[in-house]
This record gives sequence, structure tokens and C-alpha cells, in this order.
Amino acid sequence: MDFYELVERRQSDRHYSSRQVEPEVLQKCLRAALLAPSDHNTQPWKFIVVDDPELVRQVGEAAAGYGMNKWTSKAPIIVAAVLDQPMGSFLGGFLLGKNFALMDLGMAVENFCLQATDLGLGTCILGSFNEIKIKKLLGIPRGVRMPLMISVGYPRGLVRDKKRKSIEETVSYNKYNK
Ligand SMILES: Cc1cc2nc3c(=O)[nH]c(=O)nc-3n(C[C@H](O)[C@H](O)[C@H](O)COP(=O)(O)O)c2cc1C
Repeated sequence: MDFYELVERRQSDRHYSSRQVEPEVLQKCLRAALLAPSDHNTQPWKFIVVDDPELVRQVGEAAAGYGMNKWTSKAPIIVAAVLDQPMGSFLGGFLLGKNFALMDLGMAVENFCLQATDLGLGTCILGSFNEIKIKKLLGIPRGVRMPLMISVGYPRGLVRDKKRKSIEETVSYNKYNK
């Protein structure tokens, strides 16, 4: 699969088969996440793999609290992406009005998902969930943020066409286009 095909193929898969995710396959996705670029190479992330079925169920319930994500508790694995940001990097970004660590985390999560797609897995990035409840379940300290989770499993369902804005709407050369 060439890179463009991989990017086209990655999609949010919310329903999974009963096939277990092999540990070495999951490890490769995690290693791909860790290779993401980050501001000053700060690598402001930690990942928690939730593979205990009862804990997945509880995390899934907390993710469904806002009406979305009812399917999450049936995912074989959930990976929580935790922000582990050194103060220096926070201040650097803050002075520029940018949150580099969030960008870094997003790139690591996307690396994970692309690697997972290449290995035949399905993923869905989750941003809507009861963070306080899930942090309690996973033992994440109060002052530490956990902005995203990824559900992971072998997908049930077909690859869908992407719905995206066109090049004409989104790309301009040499000048901002309203
Ligand atoms: C930061 C972020 C948060 C998201 N949160 C959720 C979520 O809470 N629940 C969900 O079902 N999908 C969530 N998604 C998936 C998006 O809905 C999905 O990526 C988008 O609709 C495009 O579809 P595709 O991933 O299949 O290409 C999230 C995606 C991103 C990048």
C-alpha cells in the first residue's frame, strides 16, 4: 500500500470483530506514535493501554456519558493519550500563544492510527468523554490532562469514501483566500 492509499484507507472504525489484537501488532502502533515529531523533541506524551475488558467497559461508559460514543465499551482495546508536558515547553508555547504539546499529541495519535491501518486494524480517535471519570479509572493525577483516546480493534465493515473539502476551497497560493 502506498502512503496516499494508507491515508485514504484510515477511517474512524467504531465497530470491531471479536479477533484479539496481537501484542506485537499493538506494540508497533505504539512505537510509531513515539516516532512523531514534537516541539524541541519534548515528546510530551504518555500512553495507557486499556485491555482489561471490565476496565474497557467502564472507560467506554464514561466516554458515552455525553450521548456520543455508546459503542466504545465494546472496543477490544482503548489507548488513552495523556499530556506529559515539561514546564519549559509549556512556557515556550504560551509566550507564542500556541499549545505545541496538543499539536504534538495529535501527531503521535495520527501516527498510531496510520500504523494501525497499515496492519489491518481499525481505530477511532475520541475527544468527547468524561475526562475526570476516566482519569480516576486509570489513576491519572488531577493536574494531568488526557485529551484524546483511541479505540482499537479489527474492524467490522468496509472502507468508506472520504467526505472532505475540496482543494479549491482550502488551498491557495501566495495569498490567503477568503
Ligand atoms: C480530535 C478528534 C476528536 C474526535 N472525537 C470523536 C469522538 O469523540 N467520537 C467519535 O465517534 N469520533 C470522534 N472523532 C472522529 C471524527 O469524527 C472523524 O475523524 C471525522 O468524522 C472524519 O472521519 P474519518 O476519521 O472516518 O475520516 C474525533 C476525531 C478527532 C481528530
